[in-house]
Amino acid sequence: MERRAASRGDRPAYGHDALIVCDRLVRVFATDGVEVQALQGLDLLVAEGELMALVGASGSGKSTLMNILAGLDVPTAGAARVDGRDLLTMGARDRLAYRRDTVGFVWQQTARNLLPYLTALQNVALPMRLAGGRRRAERARAAEELLAMLSLGHCRDRRPHEMSGGEQQRAAIAVALANTPKVLLADEPTGELDSATAEQVFAAFRTANEELGTTVVIVTHDRTVADEVRRTVAIRDGRTASEVLRRTERDAATGTESLVSREYAMLDRAGRLQLPTDHMTSLGMAHRVLLELESDHIGVWPDHTADDAARTRTTGEADRDPQDGDARGAAPGA
Ligand SMILES: Nc1ncnc2c1ncn2[C@@H]1O[C@H](COP(=O)(O)OP(=O)(O)OP(=O)(O)O)[C@@H](O)[C@H]1O
Ligand SMILES: [Mg+2]
Repeated sequence: MERRAASRGDRPAYGHDALIVCDRLVRVFATDGVEVQALQGLDLLVAEGELMALVGASGSGKSTLMNILAGLDVPTAGAARVDGRDLLTMGARDRLAYRRDTVGFVWQQTARNLLPYLTALQNVALPMRLAGGRRRAERARAAEELLAMLSLGHCRDRRPHEMSGGEQQRAAIAVALANTPKVLLADEPTGELDSATAEQVFAAFRTANEELGTTVVIVTHDRTVADEVRRTVAIRDGRTASEVLRRTERDAATGTESLVSREYAMLDRAGRLQLPTDHMTSLGMAHRVLLELESDHIGVWPDHTADDAARTRTTGEADRDPQDGDARGAAPGA
């Protein structure tokens, strides 16, 4: 009630308190006269201090979104804001400053993240030098602290080819953190690593999040990474379709803790939502569903009017109760 009353008054802007705001984001690529709609009205809010994963099938638009958030690409329409900066209207000068100070980026290809002829320490100190402001000795000390925080002290004077793939990716995280960005973006950072190494690289992201308070967004195909964060957002056909939230709950009686995870569908402001494909297939839902408003939830039922019409034609049977003998639709929310 309170919330409803507040929203009727001076309604705060969508995502006003979020660090990352994507509002009906659209990105259309036109190549050889063929249009590809990589993002089709994507909504996403990320709060400051979150550590979250983005998942989705190949071609669903994950990298397109990351490139926009990194300030490397400009959306076709919609709104994208990071830390109050408008990524559509930002000029070249501001864009450069944004990429240097506000966001850090880690790519999948280990070779793309580090300069091969510089040591780990020099790689981390370089963005600090480009940003200016700190003296050489200060930069070296700050770089050394970052390497130590990510357990890379032993790689200080090694060049990338003298480091393992996992060490290179952790060094890449240190480089991305060099100018203490608010947001750390990573596109498949563990894609080229085995699962044990991937685990260590993921731990480095967690350290950045916990020790420095950096907001972290990781695109991943890695189930273990996706399972280890509290929030996993799934992108489907250029839109955020659903998200899984996990939290630890303590049993009041026994004191035992367990991880509870729930899947939510995203609901946009026009009321559109995407049902998970497997839910739709298992209930034979397509084209149209029957809705029933209950006091605390909405029931979603397969549309049987086509079956019923066929039955009426053959047996003369009248409309039947949609609840009759069918699996139940949406369960009440959390
Ligand atoms: N520069 C581009 N020019 C034309 N089409 C593009 C371009 N970049 C991406 N696309 C298209 O946009 C869609 C989304 O691509 P994107 O790279 O964002 O997918 P993705 O989710 O990152 O996939 P993957 O998991 O394979 O990395 C795809 O159909 C892709 O072919
Ligand atoms: Mg990609």
